[in-house]
Amino acid sequence: MSYTEDQVDSLPRPTLIDFHGVSMTHYFTSNWEKIQSFQARPDDIVIATYPKAGTTWVSFILDLLYFGQTTPERQTSMPIHIRVPFLELDIPSLLLSGTEMADNLPTSPRLIKTHLPVQFLPKSFWEQNCRIVYVARNAKDNAVSFFHFDRMNKVEPEPGDWNSYLQRFMDGKMVFGSWYDHVTGWWEKKQTHSKIHYMFYEDLIEDTGREIDQLCHFLGLSPSVEEKERVRGGVQFDNMKKDNMVNYSTVEIMDSKISPFMRKGKVGDWKNHFTVAQNEQFDEDYKKKMKNTTLQFRTEI
Ligand code: PPS
Repeated sequence: MSYTEDQVDSLPRPTLIDFHGVSMTHYFTSNWEKIQSFQARPDDIVIATYPKAGTTWVSFILDLLYFGQTTPERQTSMPIHIRVPFLELDIPSLLLSGTEMADNLPTSPRLIKTHLPVQFLPKSFWEQNCRIVYVARNAKDNAVSFFHFDRMNKVEPEPGDWNSYLQRFMDGKMVFGSWYDHVTGWWEKKQTHSKIHYMFYEDLIEDTGREIDQLCHFLGLSPSVEEKERVRGGVQFDNMKKDNMVNYSTVEIMDSKISPFMRKGKVGDWKNHFTVAQNEQFDEDYKKKMKNTTLQFRTEI
Protein backbone atom coordinates (compact mmCIF):
# COMPACT_ATOMS: atom_id res chain seq x y z
CA MET A 1 0.00 0.00 0.00
CA SER A 2 1.55 3.29 -0.99
CA TYR A 3 -0.20 6.64 -1.10
CA THR A 4 1.10 9.92 -2.43
CA GLU A 5 1.31 12.79 0.02
CA ASP A 6 -1.35 14.60 -2.04
CA GLN A 7 -3.74 11.69 -1.65
CA VAL A 8 -3.26 11.66 2.10
CA ASP A 9 -3.50 15.44 2.40
CA SER A 10 -6.69 15.48 0.36
CA LEU A 11 -8.41 13.29 2.95
CA PRO A 12 -10.46 15.60 5.13
CA ARG A 13 -10.59 15.02 8.88
CA PRO A 14 -14.08 13.53 9.27
CA THR A 15 -16.81 14.78 11.56
CA LEU A 16 -18.78 12.56 13.90
CA ILE A 17 -22.22 11.44 12.79
CA ASP A 18 -24.97 9.83 14.82
CA PHE A 19 -25.33 6.38 13.29
CA HIS A 20 -28.24 4.37 14.76
CA GLY A 21 -27.45 5.95 18.11
CA VAL A 22 -23.66 5.42 17.95
CA SER A 23 -21.12 8.12 17.06
CA MET A 24 -19.26 7.09 13.91
CA THR A 25 -17.54 8.62 10.89
CA HIS A 26 -18.30 7.90 7.26
CA TYR A 27 -15.06 5.93 6.94
CA PHE A 28 -16.76 3.14 8.90
CA THR A 29 -20.35 3.42 7.68
CA SER A 30 -20.17 4.13 3.93
CA ASN A 31 -19.83 0.42 3.15
CA TRP A 32 -22.61 -0.53 5.55
CA GLU A 33 -24.64 -2.85 3.31
CA LYS A 34 -21.59 -4.92 2.43
CA ILE A 35 -20.55 -5.00 6.08
CA GLN A 36 -23.94 -6.17 7.27
CA SER A 37 -24.23 -8.81 4.53
CA PHE A 38 -20.65 -10.04 5.03
CA GLN A 39 -20.51 -13.84 4.73
CA ALA A 40 -18.60 -15.35 7.63
CA ARG A 41 -17.11 -18.83 7.63
CA PRO A 42 -17.38 -21.12 10.66
CA ASP A 43 -13.64 -20.99 11.34
CA ASP A 44 -13.33 -17.19 11.06
CA ILE A 45 -11.90 -15.60 14.19
CA VAL A 46 -13.09 -12.12 15.06
CA ILE A 47 -10.92 -9.78 17.13
CA ALA A 48 -13.36 -7.24 18.54
CA THR A 49 -12.33 -4.24 20.61
CA TYR A 50 -13.08 -0.65 21.42
CA PRO A 51 -10.33 1.32 19.64
CA LYS A 52 -6.97 1.35 21.44
CA ALA A 53 -7.66 -1.59 23.76
CA GLY A 54 -4.92 -3.89 22.45
CA THR A 55 -6.28 -4.95 19.06
CA THR A 56 -2.92 -5.05 17.32
CA TRP A 57 -1.28 -6.92 20.17
CA VAL A 58 -3.88 -9.69 20.16
CA SER A 59 -4.04 -9.72 16.34
CA PHE A 60 -0.29 -10.35 16.25
CA ILE A 61 -0.52 -13.07 18.92
CA LEU A 62 -3.22 -14.87 16.92
CA ASP A 63 -1.35 -14.44 13.65
CA LEU A 64 1.79 -15.98 15.19
CA LEU A 65 -0.13 -18.81 16.83
CA TYR A 66 -1.81 -19.79 13.57
CA PHE A 67 0.76 -18.92 10.93
CA GLY A 68 4.06 -18.20 12.69
CA GLN A 69 5.49 -21.61 11.87
CA THR A 70 3.71 -22.52 8.63
CA THR A 71 4.19 -19.22 6.80
CA PRO A 72 6.89 -17.20 8.60
CA GLU A 73 7.30 -14.94 5.51
CA ARG A 74 3.98 -13.30 6.47
CA GLN A 75 5.76 -11.72 9.42
CA THR A 76 8.44 -10.08 7.31
CA SER A 77 6.47 -9.05 4.24
CA MET A 78 2.84 -8.34 5.18
CA PRO A 79 1.80 -5.49 7.45
CA ILE A 80 -0.59 -6.57 10.19
CA HIS A 81 -3.52 -4.61 8.72
CA ILE A 82 -3.26 -6.77 5.58
CA ARG A 83 -2.93 -10.01 7.55
CA VAL A 84 -5.86 -9.06 9.77
CA PRO A 85 -8.28 -6.85 7.80
CA PHE A 86 -10.34 -4.18 9.54
CA LEU A 87 -13.86 -5.20 8.53
CA GLU A 88 -15.69 -1.86 8.53
CA LEU A 89 -12.88 0.37 7.24
CA ASP A 90 -13.68 2.00 3.90
CA ILE A 91 -11.39 4.68 2.44
CA PRO A 92 -12.17 4.12 -1.26
CA SER A 93 -9.51 6.36 -2.78
CA LEU A 94 -6.73 4.65 -0.87
CA LEU A 95 -7.27 0.96 -0.33
CA LEU A 96 -9.64 -1.96 -0.70
CA SER A 97 -12.50 -1.93 1.76
CA GLY A 98 -12.22 -4.13 4.83
CA THR A 99 -14.92 -6.47 3.52
CA GLU A 100 -13.08 -6.92 0.20
CA MET A 101 -9.81 -7.57 2.00
CA ALA A 102 -11.48 -10.11 4.26
CA ASP A 103 -13.19 -11.76 1.27
CA ASN A 104 -9.81 -12.03 -0.45
CA LEU A 105 -7.96 -13.56 2.50
CA PRO A 106 -6.42 -16.86 1.41
CA THR A 107 -5.85 -18.14 4.94
CA SER A 108 -7.80 -20.55 7.04
CA PRO A 109 -8.78 -19.44 9.56
CA ARG A 110 -9.31 -15.84 8.57
CA LEU A 111 -8.47 -13.36 11.32
CA ILE A 112 -10.76 -10.33 11.13
CA LYS A 113 -10.57 -7.14 13.19
CA THR A 114 -13.57 -5.03 14.14
CA HIS A 115 -14.33 -2.14 16.47
CA LEU A 116 -18.09 -2.51 16.03
CA PRO A 117 -20.27 -2.46 19.14
CA VAL A 118 -21.92 -5.82 19.70
CA GLN A 119 -25.27 -4.86 18.16
CA PHE A 120 -23.58 -4.00 14.84
CA LEU A 121 -21.60 -7.22 14.32
CA PRO A 122 -22.76 -8.73 11.00
CA LYS A 123 -25.26 -11.48 11.74
CA SER A 124 -23.39 -14.08 9.71
CA PHE A 125 -20.71 -14.28 12.44
CA TRP A 126 -23.41 -15.33 14.93
CA GLU A 127 -25.06 -17.71 12.46
CA GLN A 128 -21.74 -19.39 11.75
CA ASN A 129 -20.99 -19.53 15.47
CA CYS A 130 -17.55 -18.00 14.93
CA ARG A 131 -15.07 -17.60 17.75
CA ILE A 132 -14.75 -14.02 18.95
CA VAL A 133 -11.87 -12.64 21.01
CA TYR A 134 -12.89 -9.40 22.71
CA VAL A 135 -10.19 -7.24 24.31
CA ALA A 136 -11.04 -4.49 26.80
CA ARG A 137 -8.83 -1.88 28.46
CA ASN A 138 -9.54 0.33 31.45
CA ALA A 139 -11.32 3.54 30.50
CA LYS A 140 -8.65 5.97 31.66
CA ASP A 141 -5.73 4.47 29.74
CA ASN A 142 -8.05 3.77 26.81
CA ALA A 143 -9.05 7.45 26.64
CA VAL A 144 -5.42 8.62 26.79
CA SER A 145 -4.32 6.22 24.07
CA PHE A 146 -7.28 7.22 21.87
CA PHE A 147 -6.44 10.92 22.33
CA HIS A 148 -2.89 10.47 21.07
CA PHE A 149 -4.12 8.26 18.23
CA ASP A 150 -6.59 10.92 17.10
CA ARG A 151 -3.77 13.46 17.07
CA MET A 152 -1.65 11.38 14.69
CA ASN A 153 -4.30 9.69 12.53
CA LYS A 154 -5.50 11.88 9.68
CA VAL A 155 -8.77 9.99 9.20
CA GLU A 156 -9.90 10.52 12.78
CA PRO A 157 -11.84 13.62 13.87
CA GLU A 158 -9.73 16.47 15.26
CA PRO A 159 -9.19 15.63 18.94
CA GLY A 160 -9.00 19.20 20.25
CA ASP A 161 -7.42 19.73 23.67
CA TRP A 162 -7.21 16.98 26.31
CA ASN A 163 -9.84 18.47 28.62
CA SER A 164 -12.53 18.71 25.95
CA TYR A 165 -11.50 15.29 24.61
CA LEU A 166 -11.96 13.66 28.01
CA GLN A 167 -15.39 15.25 28.30
CA ARG A 168 -16.34 13.86 24.89
CA PHE A 169 -15.06 10.43 25.91
CA MET A 170 -17.35 10.55 28.95
CA ASP A 171 -20.22 11.67 26.71
CA GLY A 172 -19.61 8.79 24.30
CA LYS A 173 -18.89 11.19 21.47
CA MET A 174 -16.01 9.12 20.09
CA VAL A 175 -15.67 7.12 16.90
CA PHE A 176 -17.38 3.77 17.68
CA GLY A 177 -19.41 5.46 20.37
CA SER A 178 -19.37 5.13 24.11
CA TRP A 179 -16.58 3.09 25.71
CA TYR A 180 -19.02 2.29 28.53
CA ASP A 181 -21.66 0.87 26.16
CA HIS A 182 -19.05 -1.00 24.11
CA VAL A 183 -17.32 -2.89 26.92
CA THR A 184 -20.56 -3.65 28.79
CA GLY A 185 -22.46 -4.59 25.61
CA TRP A 186 -19.91 -7.26 24.72
CA TRP A 187 -19.65 -8.34 28.38
CA GLU A 188 -23.41 -8.95 28.57
CA LYS A 189 -23.32 -10.90 25.32
CA LYS A 190 -20.51 -13.06 26.66
CA GLN A 191 -22.71 -14.19 29.57
CA THR A 192 -24.90 -16.19 27.17
CA HIS A 193 -22.55 -16.84 24.28
CA SER A 194 -19.78 -19.36 24.88
CA LYS A 195 -17.80 -18.48 21.75
CA ILE A 196 -16.70 -15.10 23.16
CA HIS A 197 -13.37 -14.98 24.97
CA TYR A 198 -13.26 -11.69 26.94
CA MET A 199 -9.73 -10.50 27.67
CA PHE A 200 -8.24 -7.51 29.46
CA TYR A 201 -5.26 -5.43 28.34
CA GLU A 202 -4.12 -5.20 31.97
CA ASP A 203 -4.00 -9.01 32.25
CA LEU A 204 -1.91 -9.19 29.10
CA ILE A 205 0.56 -6.72 30.58
CA GLU A 206 0.63 -8.60 33.87
CA ASP A 207 1.27 -12.05 32.42
CA THR A 208 1.33 -12.38 28.65
CA GLY A 209 2.21 -16.09 28.83
CA ARG A 210 -0.81 -16.92 31.00
CA GLU A 211 -3.09 -15.01 28.63
CA ILE A 212 -1.65 -16.84 25.61
CA ASP A 213 -2.33 -20.14 27.41
CA GLN A 214 -5.95 -19.13 27.96
CA LEU A 215 -6.32 -18.00 24.37
CA CYS A 216 -4.95 -21.34 23.15
CA HIS A 217 -7.42 -23.16 25.37
CA PHE A 218 -10.31 -21.13 23.93
CA LEU A 219 -9.11 -21.68 20.36
CA GLY A 220 -8.40 -25.38 20.82
CA LEU A 221 -4.72 -24.92 19.99
CA SER A 222 -1.89 -26.80 21.67
CA PRO A 223 1.44 -25.30 20.62
CA SER A 224 4.65 -26.62 22.18
CA VAL A 225 6.19 -24.85 25.15
CA GLU A 226 8.94 -23.54 22.86
CA GLU A 227 6.45 -22.23 20.34
CA LYS A 228 4.44 -20.44 23.00
CA GLU A 229 7.61 -18.92 24.36
CA ARG A 230 8.56 -17.75 20.89
CA VAL A 231 5.18 -16.05 20.49
CA ARG A 232 5.36 -14.48 23.94
CA GLY A 233 8.79 -13.04 23.25
CA GLY A 234 7.88 -11.84 19.76
CA VAL A 235 4.91 -9.82 20.94
CA GLN A 236 6.65 -7.90 23.70
CA PHE A 237 6.16 -4.14 23.33
CA ASP A 238 9.79 -3.35 22.47
CA ASN A 239 9.86 -5.99 19.74
CA MET A 240 6.58 -4.83 18.22
CA LYS A 241 7.64 -1.19 18.42
CA LYS A 242 10.64 -1.79 16.19
CA ASP A 243 8.85 -4.15 13.79
CA ASN A 244 7.64 -2.15 10.77
CA MET A 245 5.15 -4.89 9.91
CA VAL A 246 3.18 -4.34 13.13
CA ASN A 247 3.98 -0.78 14.26
CA TYR A 248 1.94 0.96 11.53
CA SER A 249 4.93 3.06 10.49
CA THR A 250 4.24 2.11 6.85
CA VAL A 251 0.70 3.52 6.94
CA GLU A 252 0.74 7.03 5.51
CA ILE A 253 -2.48 8.23 7.13
CA MET A 254 -0.69 7.97 10.48
CA ASP A 255 2.02 10.45 11.41
CA SER A 256 4.40 8.73 13.83
CA LYS A 257 6.26 11.99 14.31
CA ILE A 258 3.20 13.41 16.07
CA SER A 259 2.76 10.27 18.19
CA PRO A 260 3.91 6.72 17.41
CA PHE A 261 1.25 4.00 17.13
CA MET A 262 3.26 1.90 19.58
CA ARG A 263 3.31 4.77 22.04
CA LYS A 264 3.89 3.62 25.65
CA GLY A 265 2.19 0.28 26.12
CA LYS A 266 1.62 0.72 29.86
CA VAL A 267 -1.08 0.44 32.50
CA GLY A 268 -1.43 3.70 34.42
CA ASP A 269 -0.18 6.24 31.91
CA TRP A 270 -3.48 8.07 32.59
CA LYS A 271 -1.82 9.44 35.73
CA ASN A 272 0.40 11.56 33.50
CA HIS A 273 -2.65 13.11 31.82
CA PHE A 274 -5.55 13.38 34.30
CA THR A 275 -5.57 16.31 36.70
CA VAL A 276 -6.87 15.64 40.20
CA ALA A 277 -10.11 17.43 39.31
CA GLN A 278 -10.54 15.52 36.06
CA ASN A 279 -9.94 12.26 37.89
CA GLU A 280 -12.55 12.99 40.55
CA GLN A 281 -15.13 14.01 37.99
CA PHE A 282 -14.33 10.96 35.86
CA ASP A 283 -14.63 8.54 38.82
CA GLU A 284 -17.95 9.97 39.88
CA ASP A 285 -19.38 9.75 36.38
CA TYR A 286 -17.88 6.24 35.93
CA LYS A 287 -19.68 4.90 39.01
CA LYS A 288 -23.00 6.05 37.61
CA LYS A 289 -22.42 4.70 34.12
CA MET A 290 -21.08 1.32 35.30
CA LYS A 291 -23.40 0.73 38.26
CA ASN A 292 -25.41 -2.03 36.57
CA THR A 293 -22.57 -4.20 35.37
CA THR A 294 -20.42 -6.87 37.00
CA LEU A 295 -17.53 -5.87 34.73
CA GLN A 296 -14.45 -4.73 36.66
CA PHE A 297 -11.28 -3.04 35.43
CA ARG A 298 -7.89 -2.34 36.93
CA THR A 299 -6.43 1.12 36.35
CA GLU A 300 -3.12 0.08 37.87
CA ILE A 301 -1.36 -3.22 38.39
S1 PPS B 1 -6.22 0.27 17.21
O1 PPS B 1 -5.85 1.49 16.43
O2 PPS B 1 -7.55 0.42 17.81
O3 PPS B 1 -6.08 -0.95 16.46
O4 PPS B 1 -5.16 0.29 18.42
P1 PPS B 1 -4.87 -0.93 19.40
O5 PPS B 1 -3.92 -1.86 18.77
O6 PPS B 1 -6.15 -1.50 19.90
O7 PPS B 1 -4.19 -0.23 20.64
C1 PPS B 1 -2.95 0.42 20.59
C2 PPS B 1 -2.43 0.48 22.01
O8 PPS B 1 -1.97 -0.82 22.39
C3 PPS B 1 -0.61 -0.72 22.77
N1 PPS B 1 0.12 -1.96 22.45
C4 PPS B 1 0.81 -2.66 23.37
N2 PPS B 1 0.98 -2.48 24.69
C5 PPS B 1 1.79 -3.36 25.33
N3 PPS B 1 2.41 -4.38 24.73
C6 PPS B 1 2.27 -4.59 23.40
N4 PPS B 1 2.92 -5.61 22.83
C7 PPS B 1 1.43 -3.71 22.66
N5 PPS B 1 1.06 -3.62 21.36
C8 PPS B 1 0.26 -2.54 21.26
C9 PPS B 1 -0.09 0.48 21.99
O9 PPS B 1 1.14 0.94 22.48
C10 PPS B 1 -1.26 1.43 22.19
O10 PPS B 1 -1.34 1.89 23.54
P2 PPS B 1 -0.66 3.24 24.08
O11 PPS B 1 -1.14 3.38 25.49
O12 PPS B 1 -1.14 4.36 23.21
O13 PPS B 1 0.81 3.04 24.02
